Amino acid sequence: MSGPNTDFDPVEVAAVSPAELEAARDAALAAIAAAPDLEALKAVRSEHAGDRSPLALANREIGALPPQARKEAGQRIGQARGAVNQALAARQAVLEVENEARILVEEAVDVTLPTDRDPVGARHPLTTGAELIADIFVAMGWEVAEGPVIEAEWLNFDALNLGPDHPARTMQDTFWTAPADNHLVLRTHTSPVQARTMLARGVTDEAPIYVVCPGRVFRTDEYDATHSPMFHQVEGLAIDKDISMAHLKGTLDHFAAQMFGDGITTRFRPSYFPFTEPSAEVDLICFVCRGVDSDACRTCRGEGWIEWGGCGIVNPRVLQACGIDSSKYSGFAFGMGIDRTLMFRHGLEDLRTLFEGDVRFTTAFGSEL
Ligand code: PHE
Repeated sequence: MSGPNTDFDPVEVAAVSPAELEAARDAALAAIAAAPDLEALKAVRSEHAGDRSPLALANREIGALPPQARKEAGQRIGQARGAVNQALAARQAVLEVENEARILVEEAVDVTLPTDRDPVGARHPLTTGAELIADIFVAMGWEVAEGPVIEAEWLNFDALNLGPDHPARTMQDTFWTAPADNHLVLRTHTSPVQARTMLARGVTDEAPIYVVCPGRVFRTDEYDATHSPMFHQVEGLAIDKDISMAHLKGTLDHFAAQMFGDGITTRFRPSYFPFTEPSAEVDLICFVCRGVDSDACRTCRGEGWIEWGGCGIVNPRVLQACGIDSSKYSGFAFGMGIDRTLMFRHGLEDLRTLFEGDVRFTTAFGSEL
């Protein structure tokens, strides 16, 4: 007669015998401890704790055991599996921390390493400076005008009331071109662009002239810290009805404030230019010391003011030479050195740094203005 097999010893059932379970658990723990990284641990998990692992198989055997053996076998298997799962979780945590630390080291960026990118370079400060000046006037509705650097003697001098025998011709140390009878000069100032504009455009009530003319000019000067045979000027010309010295002063004050900051104004000192009458030298209140305690100021060297350029009311003789009705229209003109302006604006000691093409200078001063 068959009945419950009370003599059954679960310890003897192969898959769930303590020895087998211990062996399976120890093998699992050893493999877990030896897993070098998360990838390996994943394989270990599937082999030792997955559906087909010895411990999972043992677990499935429980149902086949006689009822009185199941509890003890279940406990033993449960403990073994618990130990394995705990070890897996602990190893997983350790490997994750290791992995993160490794990624931090491997993917670290050394921001102090020299870059191998080509330097971007910068635009020359004279280019950006001339553009800044032009922008200030374009914002007021002025136009930008240009002329050739090899200029007709007549436009550089005669049209501007500097006749052949005018003593002021010698003030402008002119480069003449050969042969002498071609009457071409390297322009000594940007003022011939005034004459060109008036001759080309004329003026009407509807189309007055407001032009700003930046450009390169030439004089037979030495090349030293404050002189150069080639330099840059910016010229302004306004021809309209009832133009007065007040318009000129207001325009230059606005120009100064835009270039050097609010509150920087100009003053006029009487002067002489053949093409303007009256004429004035323009000074700029020192934008560093603003005229206060200027003795120690390195920018204006104690003056409180910085010489900036020349200006005046366009001489009616110039208007007439350029085909403008001087009984109906009047105008003002001004001219200043761009290089000089940049020198004191940036505190440059030597004019030559502007011309020598050192990229370190260009990068330092050309990126910002
Ligand atoms: N052309 C003059 C110079 O080069 C500057 C100037 C321009 C003066 C316009 C008055 C009016 O010195």
